Amino acid sequence: MPVETAGALEKRVFEMNPFEFSTARRIIFGSGKREALPELVASRGKRVTLITGATSLKRSGALTKLVDALSARGLAVRVLSGVPGEPTIDGVGAVVAQARKFAPDVIVSVGGGSVLDLGKAVAGLVPNPGTVLDYLEGIGAGKKLEQEPLPHVALPTTAGTGSEVTKNAVLGARMYGVKRSLRDPRLIPTVALVDPELTLTLPPKQTAHSGLDAFTQLVEAYISRRANPLTDGLCLEGVRRVGKSLRIAFRDGSNLAAREDMSLAALLSGMALANAGLGAAHGVAAALGGRYNVPHGLACAVLLPHVLELNRSVAEGRMAELAGTMLGRVYVNRSEGAKRLIAEVKGLLEDLEIPPKLPGVRVERDELPGLVKASWGNSMRGNPVEPSDEQIAALIEAVVEVV
Ligand SMILES: [Fe+2]
Repeated sequence: MPVETAGALEKRVFEMNPFEFSTARRIIFGSGKREALPELVASRGKRVTLITGATSLKRSGALTKLVDALSARGLAVRVLSGVPGEPTIDGVGAVVAQARKFAPDVIVSVGGGSVLDLGKAVAGLVPNPGTVLDYLEGIGAGKKLEQEPLPHVALPTTAGTGSEVTKNAVLGARMYGVKRSLRDPRLIPTVALVDPELTLTLPPKQTAHSGLDAFTQLVEAYISRRANPLTDGLCLEGVRRVGKSLRIAFRDGSNLAAREDMSLAALLSGMALANAGLGAAHGVAAALGGRYNVPHGLACAVLLPHVLELNRSVAEGRMAELAGTMLGRVYVNRSEGAKRLIAEVKGLLEDLEIPPKLPGVRVERDELPGLVKASWGNSMRGNPVEPSDEQIAALIEAVVEVV
């Protein structure tokens, strides 16, 4: 049998397939644009449940201003706070029960990815009977939402997950050692209202973690088997903005132009991942995050160079394009370009003070097979190389201490 060249293999993996593309019905982007919130809500109803969790938002007074603006527009507002971190099944159940009592017409979520995900879960579950578990994939009954979710306006306060335009709500189910999603295209928020000014107070560490989550999402969606021409354009533009601005936003959080680039990169990463899927960094990060208390963006970041190394044999042309986009040049030699991307990613991680391994995570050797199995979630399907269990175990061993 003739040996397939790397170029021919890549061409076959990435040949154009039929695709569909869904995103928020409306995207409003720009500094100061949060002022549009009262009008956006008032055109959809009179009673609004505002989901938040961000204490820094409360401290800065931004939350009070948003609530006051909604009240001044004559809207009945009920503020509900989730617990810090990813929403859990019980946590979502409690917030949904409170929201059902209030009977809102509209959901507004203001916060990081977890808060926006909680907003999606509440928007989906308030009009539908039953519990969270009834609708959860994998560990629950996986029922379909019969009724349309409530209108949902999502305002991100981090620049990372792109949750404002994705169709799933990630829920922690630590008792099962996994994360699972409520997933439905109708859970994409109705309006993504992205105001980069809301990210100005994000501390450097969270700026790095969330920015690297967005970056990993852009890279994985670009080299995903399910990439399509629309997501390709979004990913390249997002990667260009990350290359230009993530280091600046990390060093000087008050630099609005850099914050704008990162908010846009995060938005583009969400649009891309919702339609092209992700890869092994997100697959393994979900398994580690389900078992250990590690920030999602940090887990993605430490995994990314290893995942790129794994995928180089199949995706080096695409990786060379990403390197060229980040560095503003063209790599005619694909192999050189792909290596350049990996070096560039490592340099970026170093500049953002990301350690090579997840600090404080110790994994017993006999836990490895379980983690490998848990890595085979939805994300893994986009990965260009179909990894063996040994290759997944090697990824895990590369980023945690195995004892
Ligand atoms: Fe992510």
